[in-house]
Amino acid sequence: MEYQTLCEQAKGILEAEPWYVSALSNLSALIMDTMKELNWAGFYLMRDGQLTVGPFQGKPACIHIRPGRGVCGTAVIADEPQVVPDVHLFPGHIACDSASASEIVLPIHRDGQVCAVLDIDSPVKNRFSDEDREGLENLVRDIEKWVKWE
Ligand code: SME
Repeated sequence: MEYQTLCEQAKGILEAEPWYVSALSNLSALIMDTMKELNWAGFYLMRDGQLTVGPFQGKPACIHIRPGRGVCGTAVIADEPQVVPDVHLFPGHIACDSASASEIVLPIHRDGQVCAVLDIDSPVKNRFSDEDREGLENLVRDIEKWVKWE
């Protein structure tokens, strides 16, 4: 996976319109279009103390996730990326799409606080490597730098 190209395309999207609805919509489409073997890619946004589904590509998903629940809520509490090689072995995993077999979730910050997560699911076990995590951490840094949240 060529993350340099992905980040360049992401910067183009963020520069063209940094408003979070447009930017995160196009970024989820970019991820779904360029990364192989995915069934869901998108964002959950912190709203009134819980994660609420935001722009995404894939099947309709669960709407609210409390901090500490599932992989997404764990990423909020731990404030660390979560790479899950087999979601069926993750205690409390929330199955939105039964096709999901592995998952990566990265926290996104605003003013030092987690304000959103990037969640990517794959129908293939062990889909996400250290290279994926590092590449997506760079993408998240660009999102944190450029997105306008209101
Ligand atoms: N599996 C996630 C829930 C969101 S869906 O994957 C889109 C979790 O356990 O937090």
